[in-house]
Amino acid sequence: MATIRIDGGNPLFGEVTISGSKNGTLPLLAASLLIEGESVIENVPRIDDINSMIDMLRALGAKCEFIEHSVLSIDATHITSVSAPYDLVRKMRGSFYVAGALLGRFGEAEVPLPGGCVIGSRPVDFHLSGFRALGAVVEERHGVMQARAEKLTGSHMYMDSRYRSVGATVNVMLAAVLAEGVTVIENASREPEVICCQQFLQQAGADIRGTGTDIIVIRGVNKLHGCRFRSIPDRMEAGTFLLACGAARGDVTVRAVEPRHMGVVLNLLQRAGLRVESGADFVRAISDTRPHAFEVTTAPYPGFPTDLQPNAGVLGAVAVGTTVLQEAIFEGRFNYIDELKRMGANIQLKDSVAIIRGVPKLYGAPVEASDIRAGSALVLGGLAADGYTEVSGAEFLARGYEDLVGKLQKLGAAITSTQTAEDDKARNAWHR
Ligand code: EPU
Repeated sequence: MATIRIDGGNPLFGEVTISGSKNGTLPLLAASLLIEGESVIENVPRIDDINSMIDMLRALGAKCEFIEHSVLSIDATHITSVSAPYDLVRKMRGSFYVAGALLGRFGEAEVPLPGGCVIGSRPVDFHLSGFRALGAVVEERHGVMQARAEKLTGSHMYMDSRYRSVGATVNVMLAAVLAEGVTVIENASREPEVICCQQFLQQAGADIRGTGTDIIVIRGVNKLHGCRFRSIPDRMEAGTFLLACGAARGDVTVRAVEPRHMGVVLNLLQRAGLRVESGADFVRAISDTRPHAFEVTTAPYPGFPTDLQPNAGVLGAVAVGTTVLQEAIFEGRFNYIDELKRMGANIQLKDSVAIIRGVPKLYGAPVEASDIRAGSALVLGGLAADGYTEVSGAEFLARGYEDLVGKLQKLGAAITSTQTAEDDKARNAWHR
């Protein structure tokens, strides 16, 4: 198990370059399965989840190779299997995206159902009803989804009204781009990560209209061609560093970002009393006093992202006054709270609402990460706290953040990580 150690209580100063988006890039890798030819994707973050997806593409027969540090070449001309290995789907739910791509290109896909995970139950029923609407016969047997279609045909569908699902929108879009006729997806997700996938597909020759709206119209084409495409910056990583600045104080500039993807986050930082400046591709946050308490509810884009709710919770934990956080997407997203309380946070949890009474200082403690975002919240807690914090389960952070420890060290944080021999072995394997 990897561990991160922090000697906290020091403000953060300096600049940090943000990597490509995890959740924006994973769909691009799956989408490349639709293409006979070479796809070159720039701004690919060097993180474990991307490596798991690369392993998945290779298991299906695609050739994948990093041709520069963050530039990945994928050639999916010769796919040898339409069955996704269970071990890879189990590792990372995002790999379920290969279902839509394989079904779209070959009319056939066998992908293990990803099951629940620590942040909530996370079913894939919307994905499956989308495939069915396109004419596929979808069965679930022994934990595996089997989807088959002689021919996929465009259809008009309304995605479930309870949520605007990122994953289902992407998966159905992947299945529909080569289908015959027109597909209309209503109540589609408008996240920047979904738009990124739409733009990649458009560049590869897909006919998709309504980009950025919640009604997407896809006119099926016969074939897609290889292209070169740049993935978007990771707004969650950028938000993490800005919220870290608020919790630990300091003056932090995140570079290579897309500020227009982050309006709601910048607004929250300002409401919490930070000074915020932004330009075409940077955001600077300055924090020299305790933040103010705030109220926020998570929501699909352009609302406040659930992925940054745990980090916002740390800001609230050290704020002056009482912060109210409501989680509306994943019921398990408050997993970090009991650990943060071990660091002196005063938090009461009632169903999906956390009432956080800010304290002047957190103190260091040994804590354990249960998922990527809970892990980053505990690192932020450690940066803001007096004394030593040890975050175990830090392998979750390597799934979603490129070189988090190195980037924080550059901002002056006293932070180190220890890897087990097994972690090192796994990491070396990805750099092939
Ligand atoms: N939902 C269903 N049925 C479905 C699909 C979704 O009930 O078939 C529900 C979910 O249970 C949830 C809500 O709809 O309550 C929204 O889920 P969504 O499908 O939008 O989430 P996702 O596609 O599984 C992606 C990100 C998550 C991020 C969410 C919300 C990827 C690989 N994952 O998940 O990222 O939290 O959207 O924005 O893009 C992370 O990066 O740490 C992470 C968990």
